Amino acid sequence: MDSILVTGNGPLNGQIPIAGAKNACLTLMPATLLSEEPLTLTNAPRLSDIKTMTALLQSLGAEVSSLQDGQVLAMSSHDLTSQTADYEIVRKMRASNLVLGPLLARFGQAVVSLPGGCAIGARPMDLHVEGLEALGAEIELKDGYLHAKAPGGLEGAVHEMRFASVGATENIVMAATLAKGTTVLKNAAREPEIVDLVECLRKMGAQISGEGTSTVEIQGVDRLHGATHQVVTDRIELGTYMLAPAMCGGEVELLGGRMALVESFAAKLDAAGVKVEETPIGLKVARKNGRVNAVDVVTEPFPGFPTDLQAQMMALMCTAEGTSVLEERIFENRFMHAPELVRMGANIEVHGGTATVTGVERLKGAPVMATDLRASVSLILAGMAAEGETTVSRVYHLDRGYEHVVRKLEGVGAKIERIKGQ
Ligand code: EPZ
Repeated sequence: MDSILVTGNGPLNGQIPIAGAKNACLTLMPATLLSEEPLTLTNAPRLSDIKTMTALLQSLGAEVSSLQDGQVLAMSSHDLTSQTADYEIVRKMRASNLVLGPLLARFGQAVVSLPGGCAIGARPMDLHVEGLEALGAEIELKDGYLHAKAPGGLEGAVHEMRFASVGATENIVMAATLAKGTTVLKNAAREPEIVDLVECLRKMGAQISGEGTSTVEIQGVDRLHGATHQVVTDRIELGTYMLAPAMCGGEVELLGGRMALVESFAAKLDAAGVKVEETPIGLKVARKNGRVNAVDVVTEPFPGFPTDLQAQMMALMCTAEGTSVLEERIFENRFMHAPELVRMGANIEVHGGTATVTGVERLKGAPVMATDLRASVSLILAGMAAEGETTVSRVYHLDRGYEHVVRKLEGVGAKIERIKGQ
């Protein structure tokens, strides 16, 4: 297994291009199942999760061609041969469950493995099932698989979700585009990736309104046609790299970044003493003074502070002036990066869903282990600001969500290299 060697190397300067959003692409790709006409995505990120979703769609009989070094995905699901998403693929990536709604809507049946737990939590699918059953689907759990059917097609309905689940919103909205009649989804998630999905579905002929608010209304149509859609910028990659100059000093411009994608995150950085300025081509970020100050964080559904930036923010708070309390309200076990940061000299106490971080002057490089996607990058950020060398192992987690991370950080002056595993 590869590892990454990082050496604290002082202020960073230059530009980092931000890729298309992993979490938008992972819901846009299954949307191809809704139509027999081709769907083409541009600005797709080059990530292992995208390869996993490609393999899943191909296992169903869809054609997926990766063009222009992976930045264009040309897909067609004209001749599907299966409606079963196998455990072998789904266990690797929970987002595989996003084929459930489209398969059910187009073919009236789907068999999708339950994803199983993952490092950050149990991550059940009850909210997906409740929403699709509200549309008339019959779903039963057998041998670890959800067996869903809607022989007479789905019927629009009014449904309020108990929690604003991102994936459940995506599955229900995609399914509702081909249901008979109108669906009103209440307490819908408001993430930019959902807005991007709706914009793509609208290009395919779907009748949807209210995306980005808590109430989304979908008028079912008989069929959807093909389209070409550009994947929205990745706000989590953006937020992650905004923390690089915040931790190391210097000034970095994140190309493609827009303030609207990271409003609450940028506000927190401003309170911590980090200046974020929107330029015509991106976001420019620099520390206001030598050391940031501690701020408290509570993770919430969009537009609140993103849970996917909690680990990275914790790395910043490790060397802040004062004490910061980070409350993780979305996942039940998303502090696995804390013990690794403690190995680097951080002062962190975790009690249940709350981590209390008392800033130290400087972290010390150490061998650490990545435990999940966002934890892996928070350790790299910490290593860039620490004294001495840090080796981050198990970087396959990183490859799921960050393309060319070494090249992008080297480009602004970081001392970082990938060490091939034996
Ligand atoms: C999406 O996951 C993202 N993944 C996650 O990003 C992100 O952390 C999460 O939304 C929250 O923003 C993709 O978009 C591919 P949820 P998702 O359904 O849809 C519970 C990353 O790092 N829940 O909003 O799975 C669940 O257990 C990944 O890129 C139920 O209880 O998130 C969790 O505690 C990690 N029942 C909470 O809701 C359900 O049926 C949020 O889950 C569904 C979810």
